[in-house]
Amino acid sequence: MRIDVVSIFPEYLAPLELSLIGKARQDGLLNLNVHDLRTFTTDRHRTVDDTPYGGGAGMVMKAEPWAQALESVAAARPAGAAKPVLIVPSPAGERFNQALAYELAGEEQLVFACGRYEGIDERVIEWAEEHFTVRPVSLGDYVLNGGEVAVLAMVEAIGRLLPGVVGNPESLVEESHSDGLLEYPVYTKPSVWRDREVPAILLSGNHGKIAQWRRHEQYRRTAERRPDLLEAFDAGTLPRADRTAL
Ligand code: ADE
Repeated sequence: MRIDVVSIFPEYLAPLELSLIGKARQDGLLNLNVHDLRTFTTDRHRTVDDTPYGGGAGMVMKAEPWAQALESVAAARPAGAAKPVLIVPSPAGERFNQALAYELAGEEQLVFACGRYEGIDERVIEWAEEHFTVRPVSLGDYVLNGGEVAVLAMVEAIGRLLPGVVGNPESLVEESHSDGLLEYPVYTKPSVWRDREVPAILLSGNHGKIAQWRRHEQYRRTAERRPDLLEAFDAGTLPRADRTAL
């Protein structure tokens, strides 16, 4: 997969050189390029923003530097590849979740446009449809100062789903949100720590019972912490023993 990130703060994306994503880049599993929006300006001050039409607080990102930057990354698209997906992080976008991470992990090229200030001139978003499939995406119902932190989160969530990035692909199957429920609690040695015991079932060696207990814990946790997820979950497709925990 190829990923291009355009930002006025390219240094913000430095953590993508670390850990699993950094290793995936080194191993050639992920071709990730960070671009400084200011290199696509033509004036002496490298201006990327201006006052909003209609008035109001803050500044708006100018259209032309964005068009130049996006044309440049679109031209870098791998030969024969489909239209790249342009992700515009924004609190006004569709919600990012694990299903969207899986969907985006199947694309050949993703481009992230990190807005700052009050956002990017809306005409860029309309114009970009010519070159990209455009998706404004929100990390959650709160406001960040810009798209960079959202990109760090999304690239990590998407990148770890690429083949070969996570050493043991089984760990992707049992984690939170992979099946619509939160993950079960986990424990490691010692079996008693500060008078707290690991649930006895986990020491029993009975793998059937352990699997059942874990499933029950998934329900319990999801009902307690995220009842909205449980509502969306199709309990009817699960074995009766699991459903009794509901
Ligand atoms: N930019 C500012 N706030 C954001 C959010 N909640 N999600 C994604 N991008 C953002």
